[in-house]
Amino acid sequence: MQDRVIGVGVIGCGEIAQLMHLPYLMELPAFRIAALCDISPGTVAKVADHYGIAARYTDHRALLADPNVDAVVICTYDHGEMVADAIRAGKHVIVEKPLAFTPEEARPLVEQAERSGLVALVGYMKFYDPSYEVGLEHIAAIGRPKSIHVHDFAGRFDRYGKLYTQIRGTDVPTDVLAAGRDAVARRVEAALGADHAGYRDLYLLLLGLGSHDLAVMRGAFGTPDRVVHAQQTGPNQLLAVLDYGGVPCLFDMALAQYEWWDEWIHVHGERDEVRIEFQNPYYRNASATVRLREATGETASERVIPGPPDTSFRREWQHFADCILAGAKPRTPLSGGLADLDLAVQIIRAMPPKRL
Ligand SMILES: NC(=O)c1ccc[n+]([C@@H]2O[C@H](COP(=O)([O-])OP(=O)(O)OC[C@H]3O[C@@H](n4cnc5c(N)ncnc54)[C@H](O)[C@@H]3O)[C@@H](O)[C@H]2O)c1
Repeated sequence: MQDRVIGVGVIGCGEIAQLMHLPYLMELPAFRIAALCDISPGTVAKVADHYGIAARYTDHRALLADPNVDAVVICTYDHGEMVADAIRAGKHVIVEKPLAFTPEEARPLVEQAERSGLVALVGYMKFYDPSYEVGLEHIAAIGRPKSIHVHDFAGRFDRYGKLYTQIRGTDVPTDVLAAGRDAVARRVEAALGADHAGYRDLYLLLLGLGSHDLAVMRGAFGTPDRVVHAQQTGPNQLLAVLDYGGVPCLFDMALAQYEWWDEWIHVHGERDEVRIEFQNPYYRNASATVRLREATGETASERVIPGPPDTSFRREWQHFADCILAGAKPRTPLSGGLADLDLAVQIIRAMPPKRL
């Protein structure tokens, strides 16, 4: 079993598949790329030519029927149904965040995955950032925080075009993809309820960008008791105050379009402080930085623990292999994806009513 090479089918061959998942799958000896699928025949053909992959599909169900596929990574827009199909087909799964668009869609997936005995992870790669792990140890060491601040002001996304070459077919069925996005929008509006459906786009941003923050907060502090306050602070911006057993957490998120990436967790202890500064998610071999302010007696010191050269996506895949081949306990199971969806809905519902 240990020597087995896991055949992976990649569903959705767009940006994140090309920038991160496919290169690591090529590199890591535990895996081989068994098949590719994209709704655009041109995209799947070009990406498959580039990586020398013979098995190419435009329907994920056909990929799931391929006996050479042991596991899949789902990198499309709308994941829930594909997760259900993959587990039903007996495949291990990494599903990119968000797990689904509503808690109602996610709940049965968690049960299905647990019953199946297969490995199913949400692609919360920041969990696998080596410096996040170091930061968590320091957070645990400072004891009960006085206050927590989680800040995620995302930089521009269009700069990666200059860093990486991306392949895209000329036959992307934009009408089908637009209809899919519309269907998601209706499901989200229903889940938020008429009084809060006006926050639909903000909620989708909270799932797209902020689910990483909700996940790393959950990894550090568990699930909050309640959302004390939430407000929309700009078209693509929100602020919330969460309560973790009496400890306040200020959560501040925006699609800020900076030239840099500004994402961190700052924990204020009684005497010490810990700050984990995350890297731009698309930089390879660059992990987070941990900054510490420590007091010993009358003396105070500041330390910076630079991140080692590693990439959270690569470590996520290594963990997936450990789970499949050596029975390691999944660190980002689907249940976490559901918890984050529940919290995202609670944050939106804590805002003043806003109808469509
Ligand atoms: N972990 C991260 O930091 C991170 C970063 C970016 C994106 N993501 C997630 O990855 C997913 C994909 O994002 P992206 O930026 O690569 O998007 P993208 O639009 O570049 O790629 C999506 C691909 O899926 C294909 N596709 C869509 N519907 C399909 C279907 N039904 N069957 C087969 N193929 C289909 C599209 O043609 C496209 O090539 C999203 O869910 C996003 O939230 C995660």
